[in-house]
Amino acid sequence: MREELEDGFELDDDLARIDAAEVHRFLSTESYWAKGRPYETQERLVREANRVVGLYHEGRQIGFARAVSDGIAIAYLADLYVLPEYRGRGFGKQLVRFSVEEGAFARMRWILHTADAHSLYEKFGFGAPSAKVMERSKPG
Ligand SMILES: CC(C)(COP(=O)(O)OP(=O)(O)OC[C@H]1O[C@@H](n2cnc3c(N)ncnc32)[C@H](O)[C@@H]1OP(=O)(O)O)[C@@H](O)C(=O)NCCC(=O)NCCS
Repeated sequence: MREELEDGFELDDDLARIDAAEVHRFLSTESYWAKGRPYETQERLVREANRVVGLYHEGRQIGFARAVSDGIAIAYLADLYVLPEYRGRGFGKQLVRFSVEEGAFARMRWILHTADAHSLYEKFGFGAPSAKVMERSKPG
């Protein structure tokens, strides 16, 4: 599934288009949640995701998101970013919209974690977890 935006920007969920080295560069050095993540780990997270979304400008990878899903009821959104020089122009919202409102998981329940972008995701129906939600932290 591919969607052309204005001025040579596009969204695409084709795994074959993902620039794994660039996604790893950003996430392992510039994100607050995946600093130091090894290349092999990142490459596997991309390859084994149920859906990956790339944001491209004239073919260059400038944003990314991945979704993990059971294929039936629930999907998890992760590793979403837009490169700093392209921020503040609506592309973060486009990435979230395309990730959760388009594609095979659009009718499912979605969950995500964020440190500070709550109001971004609220625009797409995310809210505080209900009393039914529990979470088990990574051991150790
Ligand atoms: C978060 C991020 C993807 C937003 O991308 P962007 O292209 O600047 O986003 P947009 O231009 O579409 O605007 C985002 C909207 O969400 C809001 N927002 C809420 N939290 C935000 C945050 N932490 N960072 C940026 N925008 C945020 C903005 O104010 C803006 O609202 P508006 O439309 O009412 O003005 C981008 O800043 C980024 O990659 N940050 C680093 C990685 C990151 O934190 N990812 C999210 C992990 S959960």
